[in-house]
Amino acid sequence: MNDQPTTTGQLQDLDLLDEERKLRYDSNAKPQHEFRNYEAPQRDSVKDFYRANHRFQTLDFVLAKKRAFLPPVGKRMGIWEAMETLNQLVDDSDPDTDATQIEHLLQTAESIRADGHPRWFILAGLIHDLGKLLCLQGEPQWAVVGDTFPVGCRYSASVVYYDFFRENPDWTVDAYQTECGIYEPGCGLDNVHISWGHDEYLYQVVKDYLPEEALYMIRYHSCYAIHKEGAYGHLMNDRDRRLFAAVRAFNPYDLYSKVDTRPNVAQLRPYYEELISEYFPPSLSW
Ligand SMILES: [Fe+2]
Ligand SMILES: [Fe+2]
Repeated sequence: MNDQPTTTGQLQDLDLLDEERKLRYDSNAKPQHEFRNYEAPQRDSVKDFYRANHRFQTLDFVLAKKRAFLPPVGKRMGIWEAMETLNQLVDDSDPDTDATQIEHLLQTAESIRADGHPRWFILAGLIHDLGKLLCLQGEPQWAVVGDTFPVGCRYSASVVYYDFFRENPDWTVDAYQTECGIYEPGCGLDNVHISWGHDEYLYQVVKDYLPEEALYMIRYHSCYAIHKEGAYGHLMNDRDRRLFAAVRAFNPYDLYSKVDTRPNVAQLRPYYEELISEYFPPSLSW
């Protein structure tokens, strides 16, 4: 693993990945696994991002990251402090962004709230991307964001930029390339290693505090191959099938809640501080 790049060096704008997903799942078009309608440099940076992601997210890499980061025992921070910290981090590299990270979180939560969903659902929206704090710990973007997928078993062709998996060393490990690979059929996703990133990390930080539907939203929101494409059903159990309804209910708020009017952070803060305190202690280990 010594030849891993420490950074993609090109994907300055995390929003690009969200934009690419919107295009991929535009309801007016058939799902596309190509990045469409974009200027070449942007398309190339998303492509470069997924090339690194698919090449380096091996089963061994995921296990090594789990040993390094789990259980989370690092810096103690409350949820709102984590939101502010994430905001500073991404703003620096992203001068032209339409919405800051804190605005994306608030817009997601506010659109869930506007639809009258339960308070834990709103809270899941508020915090779902806080795992991106991994970037603060020096992790390259390809190990933090982007679509996730199971490792240790055959890759689904429905994963974005599937062809880049040919560059992953696991591609030539026979034991990892059967349909179920190292797993038992129907073993349940809790027993399946998913490519490492902000979903799994945040799930591990908050797993003692939220209802299971909210935890599924957080843990699998980037796993488009499962929640959008319906892949990997052979690894899922009844609990997964039941709770993925929650992941699918969450997804449109993540993908489409960006609006032109920016949320008033100061005005919204008291409401959300109260919501946070209903479920979380004043500080958590990250
Ligand atoms: Fe995310
Ligand atoms: Fe998000």
